[in-house]
Amino acid sequence: ETINLNEIYSFLLEVVPKCGQVIRDAFYKEKNVTDKANYADFVTETDTKVEKILTETLKVKYPKHNFIGEETTQGKVQFTDAPVWIIDPVDGTTNFVHKFPYCAISIAFYVNKQAQIGVVFNSIRDELFSAIRGQGAYLNGRTITPSGVTELNKSQIITEFGSGREGEHLDVKVNNMRVLIEKCHSLRCLGSSALNTCYVACGASDLYYEYGIHIWDMAAATLIAKEAGCTVLDPDGSELNILNRRVLVSTTKELAQQVISLIKPVIYESD
Ligand code: IPD
Repeated sequence: ETINLNEIYSFLLEVVPKCGQVIRDAFYKEKNVTDKANYADFVTETDTKVEKILTETLKVKYPKHNFIGEETTQGKVQFTDAPVWIIDPVDGTTNFVHKFPYCAISIAFYVNKQAQIGVVFNSIRDELFSAIRGQGAYLNGRTITPSGVTELNKSQIITEFGSGREGEHLDVKVNNMRVLIEKCHSLRCLGSSALNTCYVACGASDLYYEYGIHIWDMAAATLIAKEAGCTVLDPDGSELNILNRRVLVSTTKELAQQVISLIKPVIYESD
């Protein structure tokens, strides 16, 4: 199979805005919420609907491709060299449910375990972040660049608590925040891993790290961040492995190193 990335990208840019409309139509209405792992981890009918539309539409056009989706994948993720779509229909489901306008469709296309295309679309605020490998990163069609901040004491950092409620994990996360807040301008927890990453990519924040996220939260946005020129790593400073449930995205490697030297890990079972 010959893969034409520009053709796939154009198709995606037809499909994703239609799904964004589905999210927007549901945003201010009452939602049907079902718990997943605990009371703070849930799914709505919109998550399921958007994932179904994306998967079915792409399967018709690309019948040989594989799919990994937040709401359909069960058990261990099958991540191979084969062409695969990695989908989070609503990244920031909690925000979606609470009408906090910071949630997005995240969709990525990988071949040989390498990101080829990433699209992150916040349809509530009409922000479409996108990248094709080797072709730069864009917000609504305009090139984006990170802030370039190198010093922790001039930086704004984003992190998250995530949806887990295990006491030991929360203690480490709170302590990391405690250590950082003494040294940076500000800390933010905004509720969408994909958008947090894109905000670092476009210079709206300087660094984002999180323990406990999944492959579908980071698959698209990490390509966008790399294409924008960000440093994207495992929070221990090693190379990122998108199955390992953790990420650090920084505007510069200098800032990354300062944060890496201060934070302690939270270990999760890999995807
Ligand atoms: C969540 C968001 C959130 C992060 C959680 C994720 P979801 O994704 O990315 O920022 O803290 O760990 O689960 O579940 O809303 O797609």
